[in-house]
Amino acid sequence: MRNLERLRQLRAEALQGGGAERIAEQHRRGKLTARERIELLLDPGSFEELGMFVRHRCHDFGLDRKRPLGDGVVTGYGTINGRLVYVFSQDFTVFGGSLGLAHAEKIVRLMDMAMKNGAPLIGLNDSGGARIQEGVDSLGGYAEIFYRNTLASGLIPQISAILGPCAGGAVYSPAITDFVLMVRGTSYMYVTGPNVVKTVTHEEVTHEELGGADVHGTKSGVAHFVCDTELELFETIRELLSYIPQNCDDPPPYVPTGDPVDRPCAELEALIPDNPNKPYDIKDVIRSVVDEGRFLEVQPDFAPNLVVGFARLGGFSVGIVANQPAHLAGVLDIDASTKGARFVRFCDCFNIPLVVFEDVPGFLPGTDQEWRGIIRHGAKLLFAFCEATVPRLTVITRKAYGGAYDVMNSKHIRGDLVFAWPTAEIAVMGPKGAVEIIFRREIERAPDPAQRTEELIQEYTEKFANPFVAAERGYIDDVIEPRETRQRLIRGLQMLRNKVDRLPRKKHDNIPL
Ligand code: HXC
Repeated sequence: MRNLERLRQLRAEALQGGGAERIAEQHRRGKLTARERIELLLDPGSFEELGMFVRHRCHDFGLDRKRPLGDGVVTGYGTINGRLVYVFSQDFTVFGGSLGLAHAEKIVRLMDMAMKNGAPLIGLNDSGGARIQEGVDSLGGYAEIFYRNTLASGLIPQISAILGPCAGGAVYSPAITDFVLMVRGTSYMYVTGPNVVKTVTHEEVTHEELGGADVHGTKSGVAHFVCDTELELFETIRELLSYIPQNCDDPPPYVPTGDPVDRPCAELEALIPDNPNKPYDIKDVIRSVVDEGRFLEVQPDFAPNLVVGFARLGGFSVGIVANQPAHLAGVLDIDASTKGARFVRFCDCFNIPLVVFEDVPGFLPGTDQEWRGIIRHGAKLLFAFCEATVPRLTVITRKAYGGAYDVMNSKHIRGDLVFAWPTAEIAVMGPKGAVEIIFRREIERAPDPAQRTEELIQEYTEKFANPFVAAERGYIDDVIEPRETRQRLIRGLQMLRNKVDRLPRKKHDNIPL
């Protein structure tokens, strides 16, 4: 048949990528090739490649003598757990995975298709950034991608795996997407690499110190998941997708569970220490309540004073937001606020109900936080909860103090159901701080100020450090026993399944950035 042999030859050539030597070098560095990655990520045999024969059309800097098939990126679609996804995978063995115009056009076509057909887009990034030889064409190519990342935001889930050095333009597309995953020791993200840093700021840093996976998983918050191997990263993407829908018009997947919906959580009764200043691990509460104890934590090592992640209740996905008393007493600071806000907005975009576990002493005071703008950053979390229209449930386990009481999905900002455990303390501030302000004169005049302070703290605690004052006013819907938590949450979610809530008509809001 005419051209059949040619087709076969071209296909074989395309599969070579940058050639055997470069593939061996990629493996030597502990990295997989673009196609090996796709095979491991998707359901076996499900990948359909598109644009295999695309070549660049650049004639500068001798590029016309080097026109590899595919132009350094493999694009196509396939399935994960039987559900459609679109994938692009940059090939570092071809021009260092750098992005030229043809390479960008392939990604852009895929993005347009993902948006039209309403399915997640997964980018496997391994790229030296804009292809230097192609100049402004590659800059334009990046801009076309950033623009579509923005249009796709909130329409389809977008996931970015960072699997090598990602510099310059190669970091801004992932930054716009919903989740960024990195691998320890092989993936890096920076606006400019260590050499440029040295020239500009005279600072000497390694790739790892500047933009390694742990830096982005702990300090910057750029990475949502940090994995030890590429394999672990692909498993994490598959698990993550199991909680989220195909697009903003679909419900998240339902996963039947053998965990009884009325299972009592008896272990929770002994969890809260008698001393309100003693910590406990809020993740024990989460694991006890959710289906089979499975909780996929997002950004576990960044701002650990606020825990966020996905779980299921009665088979339905929920996004969990929880103060962590075991870290900084669960206080809300800048990092916790921005982390929480972005997570709440993701869940709201994609119809994932929110479940909040609240034990928060307030916002973190002090010049460091004030000067860096805790007011505008804390406002992000407040804003995100206020505008979320998905079903929203709260369980106050212990402290709900001050502005943080309002922010953490209170009834006043449209929380649908707010439950409190008997251990809940709902007040403007903690007993000691409150007594020292409102009884300052009385304490000064007392014959034994320390003893009087103690008495007043006792009185205040009895009056306010309980959930019943708020329950009397209807600000919480019910005081529940900790053991009932799972059942009450699941029933609440069932009741809210057809919830419809809307925001006033407007062009778009103006979240405090
Ligand atoms: C063209 C590139 C390239 C690039 C790498 N290569 N980056 N070719 N454009 N941007 C090529 C190399 O020439 C080399 O080809 C091959 O890829 C492998 O690169 P090495 O340097 O040998 O690999 P390694 O030592 O692992 O270093 C990888 C690297 C480094 C850290 C990514 O190559 C690097 O620093 N590249 C430049 C990064 C950068 O500054 N990019 C531009 C950012 S500006 P041969 O044939 O010799 O093997 C940008 C603007 C967009 O992206 C901004 C939008 C907001």
